[in-house]
Amino acid sequence: MCGIIGIISTRESKRLAELVVSCLNRLEYRGYDSVGVASLSDTVLEVRKAKGTVEEVIKKKNIKEMSGYAFLGHTRWATHGPPTDYNAHPHTDCGNSIAVIHNGTIRNFKELKDELQTLGHKFKSETDTEVIPHLIEEYMKRGMESFQAFKSAIRTIQGSYAVLAIIKGERRIFFAKRDNPLVIGLGDDKTFIASDIPSFLPYTRKVIVIADGEIGYVTPNNVYIEDENGNPVDVISRIKIIDWDASSASKEGYPHFMLKEIHENPIAIKDTISGLLNDIDRVKEIAEEIRNAERIIVTAAGTSYHAGLYFSLLLARRGYTVMPLVASEYHSVRAKKGDIVLAISQSGETLDVKMGIRKFKEEGAKIIALTNVIESDIARESDYKLYMRAGPEIGVAATKTFTSELVSLKFLHSVVERESLDYLEKAHEIVRNVITETEGFAKKIGEELANKNNIYYLGRGLGVPLAMEGALKIKEIAYIHAEAYPAGESKHGPIALIEKGFPVIFINTGELVDELEKNLQEMKARGATTYSINVNERLNFSDNEIVIKSDGRLAEIIIAPIVQLIAYYAAVRRGYDPDKPRNLAKTVTVE
Ligand code: F6R
Repeated sequence: MCGIIGIISTRESKRLAELVVSCLNRLEYRGYDSVGVASLSDTVLEVRKAKGTVEEVIKKKNIKEMSGYAFLGHTRWATHGPPTDYNAHPHTDCGNSIAVIHNGTIRNFKELKDELQTLGHKFKSETDTEVIPHLIEEYMKRGMESFQAFKSAIRTIQGSYAVLAIIKGERRIFFAKRDNPLVIGLGDDKTFIASDIPSFLPYTRKVIVIADGEIGYVTPNNVYIEDENGNPVDVISRIKIIDWDASSASKEGYPHFMLKEIHENPIAIKDTISGLLNDIDRVKEIAEEIRNAERIIVTAAGTSYHAGLYFSLLLARRGYTVMPLVASEYHSVRAKKGDIVLAISQSGETLDVKMGIRKFKEEGAKIIALTNVIESDIARESDYKLYMRAGPEIGVAATKTFTSELVSLKFLHSVVERESLDYLEKAHEIVRNVITETEGFAKKIGEELANKNNIYYLGRGLGVPLAMEGALKIKEIAYIHAEAYPAGESKHGPIALIEKGFPVIFINTGELVDELEKNLQEMKARGATTYSINVNERLNFSDNEIVIKSDGRLAEIIIAPIVQLIAYYAAVRRGYDPDKPRNLAKTVTVE
């Protein structure tokens, strides 16, 4: 769960250090507990690294003063070893001639470390990554040339990795990939290699996506890739030109990426719908698989799980046998031939989801992936791929990708049910107006909630996943304890906590309104302060309400940005940076 960048140029300069810093700034969403940079010139391999954010470490370590023709940069989210200066990447060998950065987890690092220590290698960190430079050093000591030694090191480690290495005396950056993303960017006189495309998008649009098991090296004007069997890959045929706008990876005047991305909900919805319409044959094929499936297992984590629950409820009420599954609980379910598994993951990288689909595939199920990242691991490992088109999401908390998941799933459901899709045509405009109309209300609620220690979100039917998402958002960015329940369930325990001023937010999608109203009164009778977000139908007696008149079929899609805004304003009022919630990372590639 880290961001990695490598740059190699024809000329040695300090300008490259500035490029690395700029790429690291765009990668910081992938991890931000420590940062490090290595530079390589004809005579020197230098590493500067420390605990802290990109901004702090760049300043503290004068990173922009570093010079060389090849650079590695890393932003870390700790997995093995706490965030400290010495655990920050890059890691080096005993002779300080090899520097390595890594995103992933090495399962067999303890055995390897023991073995290397017996051979006299001295370790400076507690990380799993550090075994890699020592392995390369060891193989080179035994007479292998650099690339051979790098390949042997990679063959020795087990686990997941995107790895970059520079070696003194070499004008190459070596790379290897398994289960974690790696992309090459081809510039005029330099080559980039990074965890994602937006990190280097201001400098080049020509990219090559590295596939699992591939290994190779880049030079300033060349790329060499070998596949898993050691066969050279035809690089030219793999070049793609990216047509996204680079500005989609910057804040564009918003104080935070999260707010910008909430305001991008309408465009994300529009692009998602037009993408699915372009892909309608594939969507119909997938819909047919769902109609014919014996069971549908919907697996996802966190916010994506809430979207999965929404889809499950849509299908269940039409009589399908559907099982929403929290991705990490994949062990608990046995799939079989005839089952369809829908894996939802905006990043397309979440390991729990990946492990689940691998198991279910082995058990005979067919897999459908819904992701926001083209050619992501989960997409590639699935039988059918559906893409939402929310664009890159930098804020750690999912916002526009959640709404795009809801839209994609609503679209898919309508195709399964052979319903008209016309009602989706104006969805983006409706959501744009809703954001404009409700932002003031959401800000007011968010700021009131900022003073509270506990919150309940309640809903019924399709409102339940939205209530769950509202509670998760508040929890993860405003650090306020929030829980969500089906409103009817609140009587069976949660109501015991209600006392004067306890905030309870009701999600009213316009169904089961009388029942919801009764629950609201029960809460009020015990002193709760009530809020309601309503589509079309009011809940009487709510202390604070917003009522949106709209097409009821879009109710959940309309409500999504409102709960996102509430959480955003609560976090900001409490003085937290909503883009970087503590202890969280954008993509979770550990179990
Ligand atoms: C919450 C959030 C996480 C992710 C979860 C799954 O705001 O972003 O709960 O939803 O880690 O991530 P993906 O969708 O990338 O599989």
